[in-house]
Amino acid sequence: MSSKQPLPEQFRAIAPGRVNLIGDHTDYMGGLALPMAINLATTITASRGGSRIELTSEQLEGTLDLPLPASNAHLASPSWGRYVAGVAAELGSRLGFVGRVSSTLPLGSGLSSSAALEVATALALGDSGSPFEIAVRCQRAEQLASGVPCGIMDQLAITSATLGNAMLINFSDNSVTNVAIPEEAQFWVIHCGQERKLVGSAYGERRAQAEAAAALLGPLPQADMISINALADPLLRRRARHVQSECERVKEFAAALANSELDQCGRLMLQSHASLRDDYEVSTPTLNSLVMQLCTTPGVFGARVTGAGFGGCVVALADPEVELEGWRVSPSAGARVEWLS
Ligand code: GLA
Repeated sequence: MSSKQPLPEQFRAIAPGRVNLIGDHTDYMGGLALPMAINLATTITASRGGSRIELTSEQLEGTLDLPLPASNAHLASPSWGRYVAGVAAELGSRLGFVGRVSSTLPLGSGLSSSAALEVATALALGDSGSPFEIAVRCQRAEQLASGVPCGIMDQLAITSATLGNAMLINFSDNSVTNVAIPEEAQFWVIHCGQERKLVGSAYGERRAQAEAAAALLGPLPQADMISINALADPLLRRRARHVQSECERVKEFAAALANSELDQCGRLMLQSHASLRDDYEVSTPTLNSLVMQLCTTPGVFGARVTGAGFGGCVVALADPEVELEGWRVSPSAGARVEWLS
């Protein structure tokens, strides 16, 4: 159904995906991570106006036709429209848009395609908050749409990124510090061939286990290994050990990257992968064999699963001369709006 009002303001809202270089399953525990926005993005091209959102997708089936103000976002159809509806509901938007969404990001791969859609929607709806405020609204939209208790890393990385930099994020206060990517460091994203879905995954269960460990020990990023190793429950011990050690690795990685110590970065990536595999148990045999294969490839410094795990992509750090089968990614600017008329 078309809006009857004139729709003069044509715009493009562009939101990049992100690859997390190191620091997974730490954001919701107040820890550290080092994500980087990438040169693959989701774009909404639309005209603002009317009291509904009408959106078609170039990659996905169906048209979203959403009356505003939005309610019951988790029931919107088609299912990709739930993220759009979640943002509209969070913003309480009454002024909509008509347009289409397209993406160069592989969907459902651990590169934050859903967060990119949320942030592009927020900008399309005229959200003019700070990068943190927009990220909070989009995180809530993701939780509303998917029912998954995700952290804020993806949305904050997408709203806060600057060209040429990764970001060291401290989730105890959500502060963002730029970390320049040296020219001799080339990051690659490689899909393992297994689709990654957070809905129905053990993400919520892992978060609950880490929170149970924190209830006994206090904030896990600051917990000491002696107390962690003294935990009676071996499962909580492993979950806590991952969060604590991963935050330490993020600090070491940020320092090594700033000094172009790429061998050291690679070693830390591999240690991170082992921790996500053995202590946090979010890897899969397919991801593990891809990481092992990459680590024995000449010119590759290291590799690890990136994002939540349970399938999707790995990130590899390589010499710029090396060619791998995947996406050669570069540090990109954050989300933005371009006016076309
Ligand atoms: C998903 C979530 C993030 C974060 C990562 C794991 O991408 O959306 O908040 O928890 O998993 O690091």
